[in-house]
Amino acid sequence: MLTSSPFNPISPQARAIEHLFNVTLVVMAAIFVLVLGLVLYVWFRFRRRPGEGNQEPPYQDFGRPRLEIIWTVVPTLIVIGLFILTIQTIRVADPWVPQDTEPDLTVIGHQWWWEIRYPKLGIVTANEIHIPVDQKLLLRLESADVIHSFWVPELGRKLDMTPGHPTQMWIQADTAGTYRGECSEFCGVEHAWMHFLLVVQPPAEYTAWVQRQLLASTAPSAPDAQRGAKLFQGLTCVSCHAINGTVARARVGPDLTHVASRQMIGAGVLTNTPAHVARWLENPQTVKPGCYMPNLRLTTSEVQALTAYLETLK
Ligand code: CUA
Repeated sequence: MLTSSPFNPISPQARAIEHLFNVTLVVMAAIFVLVLGLVLYVWFRFRRRPGEGNQEPPYQDFGRPRLEIIWTVVPTLIVIGLFILTIQTIRVADPWVPQDTEPDLTVIGHQWWWEIRYPKLGIVTANEIHIPVDQKLLLRLESADVIHSFWVPELGRKLDMTPGHPTQMWIQADTAGTYRGECSEFCGVEHAWMHFLLVVQPPAEYTAWVQRQLLASTAPSAPDAQRGAKLFQGLTCVSCHAINGTVARARVGPDLTHVASRQMIGAGVLTNTPAHVARWLENPQTVKPGCYMPNLRLTTSEVQALTAYLETLK
């Protein structure tokens, strides 16, 4: 099931942040109730009663050192307590990254999709991040154009992706499942359709996924798909996309080597079904207006052939 909630932490980082949030909420609620209670008490206890008429202002009381010490020391202790708790949370939520540590994953924000690289494995994919359960991974964040922001609510931290200034953070998930991530920094017209999926898998399932991703594409056997493969190389598709095992090597748009194995297309705009792929190819601009894939004015038979080809890229 696809979820997206900051109140369902699945990582030590997110749990630490949630704990700090809950403690702060309880302390603030207690202060709120205390202050509001005192205001109501004073308002009720010292109100003007019927028949009392206009009176002089009541007696003003100054200089109660004990009271003043209490209302200075208690809030100071609360702030110090929250400060210590915050430092502890930062240590868990944002652990130190030793210099020159090679990242396990590099995520590059593009207008409006996510490029995902596994430098240690040699995998390049898009819009769907797979990670093994219970493993601490170093994530490096970059941007190819403008400022984006990486956020999977269940993982806790949100981090900006700034062009020319890579950032890093540790991620770890201890519950298998599929979670929705999103771009959290306004980055242009299709910012709202810049989603990705985080698929947390048991080790064996993750290894199988890695093995599949490492395979290059093979030439299709069905005639329709063969025609699609030829069209892909003859049309402008190759100027933007890469498919391992073919001449297509461009890195402008998403890598399509295993596009058929992904759950969504267009960075979350449609589920990945043959009908949706065909709709996307017919005119991406009606599906995701403003995106950088142009309307290629393909004929119906070209759309059919290209869809048949893309469906073979499992
Ligand atoms: Cu990328 Cu908003």
